[in-house]
Amino acid sequence: MDHPSKYIITTVHVDELKNSATIIAYTGFSDHYTSIDRKVCAFLHHNFGGSKVLVSRNGKKVELPVEQVREGDTIIQIFSFPSSKKRLTVADPKLAAALKKKGILSFKIRKLRSLPKDFSNDLQEAIEQVNLMMRTPSRKQERLKLGVFRANKLVEKVKEEQRKRKEGSDIIEHLMDSARQGKLNMSDIEVYVDNVVKHSSSEAMSAIANLKSSDQTYSHCIDVGVFFQTLYFKAVDDGKHKSTFQTKNQMLLGAFLHDFGKSQLPKELLDSTARFDTNSREMQLIKKHPQHGAKLLTGMSMPDSIVNMSLYHHVKMDESLNTSYPEKLSYNDSTFETKLLSVIDIYQALVGKRSYKRSWTPPQAMRYLSALAGIEYEESIWDLFLSLMGEFPVGSLVILNDDSMGFVMNVPEKDEDLLRPQVVIIRNAYGEDLEKHTLVDLQEEKDLFIKSDVSVTDVFSSQAINRFSELRIVA
Ligand SMILES: [Fe+2]
Ligand SMILES: [Fe+2]
Repeated sequence: MDHPSKYIITTVHVDELKNSATIIAYTGFSDHYTSIDRKVCAFLHHNFGGSKVLVSRNGKKVELPVEQVREGDTIIQIFSFPSSKKRLTVADPKLAAALKKKGILSFKIRKLRSLPKDFSNDLQEAIEQVNLMMRTPSRKQERLKLGVFRANKLVEKVKEEQRKRKEGSDIIEHLMDSARQGKLNMSDIEVYVDNVVKHSSSEAMSAIANLKSSDQTYSHCIDVGVFFQTLYFKAVDDGKHKSTFQTKNQMLLGAFLHDFGKSQLPKELLDSTARFDTNSREMQLIKKHPQHGAKLLTGMSMPDSIVNMSLYHHVKMDESLNTSYPEKLSYNDSTFETKLLSVIDIYQALVGKRSYKRSWTPPQAMRYLSALAGIEYEESIWDLFLSLMGEFPVGSLVILNDDSMGFVMNVPEKDEDLLRPQVVIIRNAYGEDLEKHTLVDLQEEKDLFIKSDVSVTDVFSSQAINRFSELRIVA
């Protein structure tokens, strides 16, 4: 599916590492990084602390914090650099030379999508001229007016839909509790699905999912479902993908029920916030939920498209990853819908965790996941996900270069710069809360840009959703 964003992710050799390219991951290494010795191990711990690493250990690919790398591991990829290590992600000749000397030889980078060589200069110039002509003051105002209208509408819907998220989460919990006791009654969830499809704004529900923490099972299922609904409709509406679902209700039901197999696990396990070790007994039980789900759903004569979502949503493109399960299933048998759902599933799990120790902002989660494209999921699925979510998903809290702070309100259109969404300013550069909130269109205001993103939990603790709901947006 073709959803070109302005940027592409590509792999380059250290000699091609151009000035100021953004490095997403270090991906190619000399032999020194195969079955590493004590010296290399110490080098990695010292220089890449806080980052993640993908290693091969005892024949399995494992993702770890760099601090847990040990002698004998083979390094496959270093990624998800903390902000303190930003200098390792901005290419310059000095960094390239230092990395080459250390045997770090290729990189996954993000760069501007370029036009075919034959056309490039003339055509690029012509496109810029046309863009300039089109960006007349009246067009700029029209855009802003529409942006303000949409943003206020979103805020209004976010206010309304919070109750619906809680209702959905309660229904999923009740459904799983009943299934645990052998009772399978789908009527409540079916009525709920119908209500969401007919009367809800999935965009608003997705914004809520970006602003609130979730539990790891019930509200997680609702959040994954509404993200899926939003993104999948857009993908299908584009006309390039033909849905395998017969109805919208079926599509949403499948997404809400992707973790239905967890109903066969002890409730204490589902409600626990502990992190289980990969080899723990608990993890072995949890890893069975895709098969449990597929069995239950097949027993209820659900269509194959729904069963596939349950059975394959943890199967990774590289099936030798230790996070890929059930074993022996092939990513090729995963449907397009399941592949998209599985990226959403990981994204929501990262972002929803914000009340626990390790909190991920939506943009951080996007950066982390971009490094796993081509490993955990196909590049084309990632490209689609990125183009629909944006680098700064709706509800992200960001700081602009003039030190003002605001919420991201939209995802830039297909041909626009994904790093430049519309932002509603809530605090000025002096840290003062504003009463009226101005919408800034970063596609138009070229002097402004997003300098960094911040955690809504750090700034507003659990009040982020209320702050968002109280926005009064003006042009
Ligand atoms: Fe799952
Ligand atoms: Fe899930």
